[in-house]
Amino acid sequence: MRMKGEGIGFGKAILFNEHFVVYGVPAIVSAIGRYTVARVYPSDKPDVILIDNRDATPGYKEEKLEQQQDSLRRMLRKMNLDFSKDGVEIELSGTLKAASGVGASAASCVAIARALSEYFDLNLSDEEINAIAYEGEKGYHGTPSGIDNTASTYGGLIWFEKKEDGDNIIERINIPNPIEIVLGNTGKVANTSAAVAGVRERKERYPEKYAKIFNRAENIAYLAKQALLDEDHHELGKLMNENHKLLQQIEVSSKELDFLVKLAREHGAYGAKLTGGGLGGNIIALTPGKELQEEVATAIEKEGFQTVKTKIGVTRRGVQ
Ligand code: MEV
Repeated sequence: MRMKGEGIGFGKAILFNEHFVVYGVPAIVSAIGRYTVARVYPSDKPDVILIDNRDATPGYKEEKLEQQQDSLRRMLRKMNLDFSKDGVEIELSGTLKAASGVGASAASCVAIARALSEYFDLNLSDEEINAIAYEGEKGYHGTPSGIDNTASTYGGLIWFEKKEDGDNIIERINIPNPIEIVLGNTGKVANTSAAVAGVRERKERYPEKYAKIFNRAENIAYLAKQALLDEDHHELGKLMNENHKLLQQIEVSSKELDFLVKLAREHGAYGAKLTGGGLGGNIIALTPGKELQEEVATAIEKEGFQTVKTKIGVTRRGVQ
């Protein structure tokens, strides 16, 4: 079989304001140095067959299988592709472990869109790839903000604001030097749809309490952007800690996430918080310098959890 199309999508870590971002609060996200690769091969069957060879948290692929099929259907519809005569096989692999919180679904959507674009010589722009991946993300979590597919498409460090009309604000944040981080995986597969729906329900039930929390989240985004530009890592870490507190208040943390956050801080992380949808999945710890990064990662691994050591703010589209 001859391979004809290949594409990649970056994993991501949300530094500030997951969940709040769904309601238009600004958020900060970074692509990470891990990515998913999609390869498209011709097939005799008039169908699209997805072969998922990604390394994954146990249970992840099984749990997401239906959502993955829905996501693929949505993307193919958006791309207006017809497989009634000649089909394709799409294979997923790459260095990003499929887990909750690291943008695994978005990375696969972007990789697939890029691979199909190459396979069919469509020459799609990044904007078009991002729009297709956004459709795909709807299969995974109903009303995505678009932050994950945006980071996965463009790479780097990004300021993101969701707008009602879909004309989202996407601005690159250029920092002088990349910063080491550690991602710690609780090993729990989480359902982002359920987490987002839970926040919506409580936000409607406790409007005043939630308005206060959302206001502070918005302030934090602006302060964090300034701290990033000033390379004030202590301030940045403090703001991450406060952001985690807000995420606890809207009830998307878990005891495993809180445990890893505390552990990372105890071992010197400047700040730590859950990252992504929460209720499981990953934490992000800010660990400037290789030594601190190593120390925090080792402490987490000693407790039996897996880590990813990477950097935020790397240019060249997030690849190290
Ligand atoms: C998931 O990575 C981030 C959430 O804010 C959902 C979204 O923005 O679509 C929880």
